[in-house]
Amino acid sequence: MAVLDILRAPDPRLHAIGIPVEKVDRGVRKTMDDLLETLYHKNGIGLAAIQAGIQKRVVVIDLGERNGIPLKPLLMANPELQWVSPATQKTQEGCLSVPGYYENVVRPLEIRVSYLDENNQNQLLSARDLLADCIQHEIDHLNGVLFIEHISSLKRHLILSKLRKEKKQRR
Ligand code: NI
Repeated sequence: MAVLDILRAPDPRLHAIGIPVEKVDRGVRKTMDDLLETLYHKNGIGLAAIQAGIQKRVVVIDLGERNGIPLKPLLMANPELQWVSPATQKTQEGCLSVPGYYENVVRPLEIRVSYLDENNQNQLLSARDLLADCIQHEIDHLNGVLFIEHISSLKRHLILSKLRKEKKQRR
C-alpha cells in the first residue's frame, strides 16, 4: 500500500470524469488499498480516485465508528445512485481537495446505491444521514464535481481565490 498525493483545488484534474471499472481485479484492488491508506493518513472519511489523479470510478469510505461500534470500510467501484429520498439533510462538508474549508450542503437524506465491492461482487446498499451524504459527495468527485459547487458562487469564488493564493505561496 502507498500514501498517494491528493490534488488540491483549483486543479483541472479534479474535474475529470472517472472511467467505469470493468472488473475489480488486482490493479483496482491495489488502487482501493492505496486510497484507504491515504484516507487514514489524512484523517478523512472518504476519498475518490479522481482526487489522487486516477481517472477511475473508485471510492473508499470509512466513517470510523457509530455508537462505539467500529464500521467496516466501504470500498466501491462504479457506485451509482439507484434511488434518493425526497427528504433532504443539511450537512457541514469538507474535502481533502479543499483543505481547511467547511460549508453546509443540502443533499437527499436517504439513498440506495449499487456498486462492485473489493471482491468484484455486486452490492446494493441503503444508507442515510452521514453515510448517505458521504457517498453522494464521493460520487460527485467521480463526475468531476466538488462540494463547493453546491454552495453560493460568491462563497465558492472566495474559497477558490484563497486556495489559489495558498498554492502560489507554497511554490
Ligand atoms: Ni471530497
